[in-house]
Amino acid sequence: MLILGIESSCDETSAAVVRQDGDGKLTALSNVVASQVETHRLYGGVVPEIAGRAHIEAVSRVVGEALRDAGVSPAKLDGVAVTSHPGLIGALLVGVNFAKAFAFSNKLPLLPVNHVHAHTAAAYLTDPELKPPFLALVVSGGHTSFYLVHDYTHYEELGGTRDDAAGEAFDKIGRVIGLPYPGGAAMDKLAKEGDERGGKKCVSLPSPALSGDNLDFSFSGLKTAALNYLNSQKQKGEDVDRALFASAFTEAVVSAVTKKVPAALERSGCRRVVLAGGVAANSHLRARLDEVCRANGAKLVVPPRDLCGDNAAMVAAQGVYELLAGNIADTYLNASACD
Ligand code: KG4
Ligand code: ZN
Repeated sequence: MLILGIESSCDETSAAVVRQDGDGKLTALSNVVASQVETHRLYGGVVPEIAGRAHIEAVSRVVGEALRDAGVSPAKLDGVAVTSHPGLIGALLVGVNFAKAFAFSNKLPLLPVNHVHAHTAAAYLTDPELKPPFLALVVSGGHTSFYLVHDYTHYEELGGTRDDAAGEAFDKIGRVIGLPYPGGAAMDKLAKEGDERGGKKCVSLPSPALSGDNLDFSFSGLKTAALNYLNSQKQKGEDVDRALFASAFTEAVVSAVTKKVPAALERSGCRRVVLAGGVAANSHLRARLDEVCRANGAKLVVPPRDLCGDNAAMVAAQGVYELLAGNIADTYLNASACD
């Protein structure tokens, strides 16, 4: 089976072709990502209107490249998968409308894909042995959630952030300390330097893990505390050691997210964990989650970094299972900003 995937939910226009072999194994034959990061950097964050327009400019070329790289003609495809929700509505609409036209003109099934499910599906491309049920921890710019993945297309949210997501917190605080957008990857590097100088506990910051019997988080308090610290240092005329601060901030995020994992494993009844989403690229989170999973006798699957951020191979991978489940849309398919 050959599926074309299209992703345009935020600031990456991406297209990919994924093949499923007879034994069920998935392989990405191509995965083209056109990033708009440089464009949005000027504004310190994604500007939705600009993102939509940039997707329009890129989508035909990116899909053409993905088909060429894979050596696959439209006639050989079995379906077109597209991220239909959640995301920026103007950005999503570009991918959805392109996919509709492509599917209609090539007489192919149109497969709507949830962006969060797609992030998780990157794990099937990583570990061919992986099968549901498993516990998924999705940490991205918009999500910090635990899911019990009952089946390829059946997700149950066990808990998650009640306000901002971990990636958003990295980006916003990164911006305040002068890092270019998106701040997550730069914070990761700085924190490594800070860790080496013993920075993990150098600033007292509140934990985003909510207390009590839940799997929920709140990142707004952490953001406010970090801002207050940075502002008070400024008022006192004292320099902030960015590496030490990044180390303490990262420690607050990573320890909160991983602290909930034993309870999430218990709740899910699973001993397999998938880490997914853009923040899954974070070296501190990857290492700590690995330790926690080992200590709890759970197997961890983490996609390689190029499959953690937004890309269409993960969308095509999820599309394979949507097609097998018969989840085919008609040309009335609409995009939605919500989960
Ligand atoms: O999944 P993604 O590409 O887009 C959404 O679906 O939101 O995630 C993007 C987020 C951004 O907030 C970015 O700063 C963060 O992932 N990110 C990282 C790292 N690489 C990307 N955060 C922390 N450490 C990283 N190495
Ligand atoms: Zn994403």
